[in-house]
Amino acid sequence: MKKRIVIFASGSGTNAQNIIQYFQQSKVAEVVHVLTNKKDAKVLARAEAHNTKASSFTRAQLISEEGVLQTLKKSKPDIIVLAGFLLKFPEIILQSFPNKVINIHPALLPKYGGKGMYGHHVHEAVVANNETETGITIHFVNENYDEGAIILQKKTTILPEDTAEDVAKNVQKLEYEWLPKVIETLLKE
Ligand code: GAR
Repeated sequence: MKKRIVIFASGSGTNAQNIIQYFQQSKVAEVVHVLTNKKDAKVLARAEAHNTKASSFTRAQLISEEGVLQTLKKSKPDIIVLAGFLLKFPEIILQSFPNKVINIHPALLPKYGGKGMYGHHVHEAVVANNETETGITIHFVNENYDEGAIILQKKTTILPEDTAEDVAKNVQKLEYEWLPKVIETLLKE
């Protein structure tokens, strides 16, 4: 039996698509459902284009016993991946799926984490502070933003002439390479 992956995403969903495509070739696992809090998020079309079930939910459904939690109980995920999910992940779901929820953050936590630090905001802050390196952090999710146990970090160098867009591209390359591998490794343990 293949292991079951559920992805949460809020926007474009390039990481979600990358994970779907990676596991379409896999014997280990498959993406069974993509969930988003935005009913017009591009991730919905990306998932559907790759024959993957996708749906949206409201903020009220995210925190209610009958809402997203019930959907997840039916999906029976072995892992829940937050790939560009920008809302706080609710405790009622974390309690039902202990040690099964992971997040990717586009910086080297604990630097550039916390509320408001997402997507391009992170890369702009990194460049504004003249950092010479940045990277990705994949970590378990707990009740605080960006604070759960770190599973993996990978670094990339920042050149003095690099813009936030250059940094974003280099960080994305790391995300696409490493997030599917980490999911696969966790599911094999
Ligand atoms: C990714 O870079 C991810 O690391 C980041 O949002 C982007 C989503 O891109 N997540 C955070 O900033 C979480 N704090 P995508 O929708 O194209 O996958």
